[in-house]
Amino acid sequence: MNTTVVTVDKEHPDAKVMEEAGRVLKEGGLVAFPTETVYGLGGDGLNPDSSRKIYQAKGRPSDNPLIIHIADMESLDKIVKAIPLKARKMAEAFWPGPLTMIFEKSSVVPYETTGGLESVAVRMPSHPVAAALIRAGGGYVAAPSANTSGRPSPTRASHVREDLEGKIDMIIDGGSVGIGLESTIVDFTEDEPVILRPGYINQEMMEDVIGQVKVDRGLLITDENVRPKAPGMKYRHYAPQASLTIVEGKAEDTIAYINTQCAKLKAEGKGAGVIATDETRGSYQAAVVKSIGTRRDEEGIARHLFGILREFDEEKVDAIFSESFDTPKMGQAIMNRLLKAAGHHIIRL
Ligand code: TXA
Ligand code: MG
Repeated sequence: MNTTVVTVDKEHPDAKVMEEAGRVLKEGGLVAFPTETVYGLGGDGLNPDSSRKIYQAKGRPSDNPLIIHIADMESLDKIVKAIPLKARKMAEAFWPGPLTMIFEKSSVVPYETTGGLESVAVRMPSHPVAAALIRAGGGYVAAPSANTSGRPSPTRASHVREDLEGKIDMIIDGGSVGIGLESTIVDFTEDEPVILRPGYINQEMMEDVIGQVKVDRGLLITDENVRPKAPGMKYRHYAPQASLTIVEGKAEDTIAYINTQCAKLKAEGKGAGVIATDETRGSYQAAVVKSIGTRRDEEGIARHLFGILREFDEEKVDAIFSESFDTPKMGQAIMNRLLKAAGHHIIRL
């Protein structure tokens, strides 16, 4: 398949391009597009064939449900059975934005989109290109992250091209995304709201609006037997080709530990890489040292994480060591992704 790649202005996407992209969606085709979190791979969320195509293009297991993206509150009524009061408050506070909420689905939503579940995940993105595409495409865009299943989510169009060029109809290049980690997911189908995936909107921000919000046990415990409720969270994800180890401790201890490990690997004729910060990058003796940014800017760390993990696949290293980033606001989201990438391999000094 020939994939058309078009570049648009992030704030004011060309109306003709968006109209054409909308037509592709209405005809059952797939369009990758930027959102404020990561790039999405869009199809018509109410068309079962489109959802099947999405799973196929990503190589994604079909029991892993998709998020339906909408552009206004009226659209929500059609695809869910009811909107709990707390969910309405959350929508008022955080939509459009990097928040996904789970509701009981109405009958118009095909099981192909929800991976067979009776519930549906819904998000109203704030990115102008995403909003324009949803409107042009009929109002209901099912979109997982636009990566091959298992790889880090794409934060720029070149990442989407690496994974999906030749497999989808169109890629809309709207530049780099702002947040760089996928949306926070909160389940409203039980009595108490539960966070299924941490993101930019953190627990404290939500509790300020609706009171207590729980965290899915499957996220906190690394026990294989405790299944996370979001089916996607159980899959191995984001992992670079080389083995990745997180090292947690005081900066000087972390540097000493990683340098010792790198020296050992070198003696065995192996190459090591380090995910460092601007503050520490000069202290490592490894073949490849990449800074994720300064510790003073946690949003920058979040934004750069997936790109750095992808970059390491281009390097000839056998092992990668990463510092730990348990930052105040986005730490839970950053560490959730980093731990998954490392297969939960963490050394606590
Ligand atoms: O930021 C984002 O959310 C991006 C952009 C494109 O919007 N999308 C995204 O989609 O990250 P995806 O498919 O890569 O991740 C969706 C996650 C998966 O872990 C999936 O299992 C979970 O949401 N999910 C979707 N519907 C669900 C449902 N009904 N119940 C529980 N989990 C659900
Ligand atoms: Mg994904």
